[in-house]
Amino acid sequence: MSEPLLSVEGLYTNYGKIQILRDVSLTVGAGEVVALLGLNGAGKTTTMRSIIGLTPPRAGRVRYGGRDITRWPAYKVARLGVGYVPEGRRMFRDLTTLENLQLAENGRGGAWTIARVLEQLPKLGELRGRKSGRLSGGEQEMLSIGRALVSNPTLLLVDEPSQGLAPLIVEDVYRILRELKATGVAILLVEQNALLALHIADRAYVMDSGRIVHGGPAAELAADRNRIRTLMGLDAAVG
Ligand SMILES: Nc1ncnc2c1ncn2[C@@H]1O[C@H](COP(=O)(O)OP(=O)(O)O)[C@@H](O)[C@H]1O
Ligand SMILES: [Mg+2]
Repeated sequence: MSEPLLSVEGLYTNYGKIQILRDVSLTVGAGEVVALLGLNGAGKTTTMRSIIGLTPPRAGRVRYGGRDITRWPAYKVARLGVGYVPEGRRMFRDLTTLENLQLAENGRGGAWTIARVLEQLPKLGELRGRKSGRLSGGEQEMLSIGRALVSNPTLLLVDEPSQGLAPLIVEDVYRILRELKATGVAILLVEQNALLALHIADRAYVMDSGRIVHGGPAAELAADRNRIRTLMGLDAAVG
């Protein structure tokens, strides 16, 4: 079998002297959607930051598209087609929606142009001239995803896209993620809402205290509420 699109092997990551990740290994195949679940503080965001070089790991390997990209700077990883939608939707608050999208365009080319993003996410089209600092939480999440789309990623890392959003907006966000999946984009998806993520994912990992404590088919985990509660706590199976 050929190598997975992304493979992470034995990552150890610290913040200062505090060890956060311990021996984290996971894979994402081409076109595969993989959920990364776990309680608050489990190390999910740190795992994403370690993969893309924002918080370089102390030990372990990150391979992407057949290359060793361990500790590569984030801008170089992005150029390989790895998109990132960070937790909390970081963007340039003084720039308009359109300007934010223009900054995110990286000239790789592909199906997702700014025009297509504004067409597929009509709300963003309406808000093209508004400063992003004045957008609602849901609108900012849309823009954050739009920014990742115009880079035409092969692999998209999405960190808690549903956090703090109204249910209708969450539906919009997941509609786009499903469309991306249908067009063959691989996704590593971090969510607090386990069932939401498991319904779109092919496989899932669960983290606890900086370690991977479970890995397997998403459908299997989705069907076993008791196991979700055991792995992730009581709140996880809601929704
Ligand atoms: N910049 C930081 N400096 C020190 N500790 C951090 C920093 N960011 C996160 N942590 C700690 O690392 C652990 C994992 O955090 P994080 O990866 O954000 O978890 P998750 O995304 O699963 O909620 C937590 O204990 C958190 O307090
Ligand atoms: Mg997080």
